[in-house]
Amino acid sequence: MQPVISFTDVAKQYNGREVLSSLSFTINKGDVVGILGPSGMGKTTILKLVSGLEKPSSGKVQINGAQIGYVFQEPRLFPWKTALENVVLPLKANGIAKGKRIGIGTHYLEVMGLAKFADYYPSQLSGGMKQRVSLARAFAIKPDVLLLDEPFSALDIKLRDYLLSMISDQLKHHPMTLLYVSHSPKELARIATRAFIMHSGHEMSEISVSECETMESDSDELFSSRPVTNNLVEGKCTTCTC
Ligand SMILES: Nc1ncnc2c1ncn2[C@@H]1O[C@H](COP(=O)(O)OP(=O)(O)OP(=O)(O)O)[C@@H](O)[C@H]1O
Ligand SMILES: [Mg+2]
Repeated sequence: MQPVISFTDVAKQYNGREVLSSLSFTINKGDVVGILGPSGMGKTTILKLVSGLEKPSSGKVQINGAQIGYVFQEPRLFPWKTALENVVLPLKANGIAKGKRIGIGTHYLEVMGLAKFADYYPSQLSGGMKQRVSLARAFAIKPDVLLLDEPFSALDIKLRDYLLSMISDQLKHHPMTLLYVSHSPKELARIATRAFIMHSGHEMSEISVSECETMESDSDELFSSRPVTNNLVEGKCTTCTC
């Protein structure tokens, strides 16, 4: 097993207010990790620490992956660029030739069901369409590590279903390490190989993916505190036998 993401005794404060503390876990190459937990627990903060957008206040965050793709909780598209231009922008930064990047960008917009909207500007797209453009942008760079922060929150059930299948397909063609934040355990169970629940900023436990299959989004399990803290060491869970 090759560690790709390691948190060692990580704490994060914003303006002196502690959001995460004593957080340690390891994610290995190819793991598809779902992160569940109530609002405000620090799930997005974890992804920001992985991406390097935020630095830990103390402790160590180690990442062994060249390319990180990030689908933010809100789509974050450039409003003055079309859907296709938004998708190809990181490819340009990666030095991919114009003809090739247009081909790649067009392909991923097609995968997202947005082929007809390549020339639309974000203001002309619905919230769900914008989120799909940002998914296309992340997949187009073929990242080693992909961070998905509630990517389907603006989408209807049918589209969620389609995109979950699409992500499974993409993972088969291009294996990557994936961190996927969601409020839906059942959704996670469709693609995750490991699942974490954040009980607080210093309490995260690993549960089996099969537990997620039967768990509701408003399950007590998601909102209750567990007695053992910092229970993820080297990817092993100490609170259960999964
Ligand atoms: N840039 C920031 N400055 C100050 N406080 C912040 C900042 N970013 C996040 N926080 C605070 O950190 C806490 C955790 O936020 P975070 O966005 O990580 O939670 P979350 O688990 O992703 O929540 P949600 O499920 O609602 O998206 C919140 O209390 C939030 O107010
Ligand atoms: Mg969040």
